[in-house]
Amino acid sequence: AAPVLYEAENAVISKGVVESNHAGFTGTGFVNYDNTTGGYIEYTVTVAQAESAKLTFRYANGTTANRPLDISVNGTLVSDNLAFPGTGAWTTWKTTTITASLPAGTSKIRATVAGTDGPNSDSLSV
Ligand code: GCU
Ligand code: CA
Repeated sequence: AAPVLYEAENAVISKGVVESNHAGFTGTGFVNYDNTTGGYIEYTVTVAQAESAKLTFRYANGTTANRPLDISVNGTLVSDNLAFPGTGAWTTWKTTTITASLPAGTSKIRATVAGTDGPNSDSLSV
C-alpha cells in the first residue's frame, strides 16, 4: 500500500513539546524532545494486512552529535539506538528508514530518547 504519513504533533508525546520555530516541517509543527532521557513519541498506525513495513522517520538535528532513539512496536524493541546523526541545521530535515513487522490492524510505534535528547521529529511514514 502507499505510505501513510503520521505527524509527530498528532502523536502521543511524553517529555517533549510541539514547536514550529524551525522551517521545513510538514503539518503544523514538529516535536522537540526535552533534554532528558526517556521521552517518547508514540504513533498509532494502521495497516490492513500483516506486513514487513518500512518505517521512515523525518527529523532534524542541528548538532554534530548523534541523537539515537529506541524504536519499539507494540512494546517490543525493534531498533536499539537507531542513529539520528546531525543534519547540518535545525532547518535541514532528513529521513531514516527501518523495516519492521507489523500485525494487521492498529499498532503503537514508539520512538524513545536513548541518550539525553532526541532529534527534532517531524513525522513517521508507514
Ligand atoms: C535548540 C533548538 C531546538 C532543539 C534543541 C536541542 O534549542 O532550537 O529545536 O530541540 O536545540 O538541542 O535539542
Ligand atoms: Ca530538543
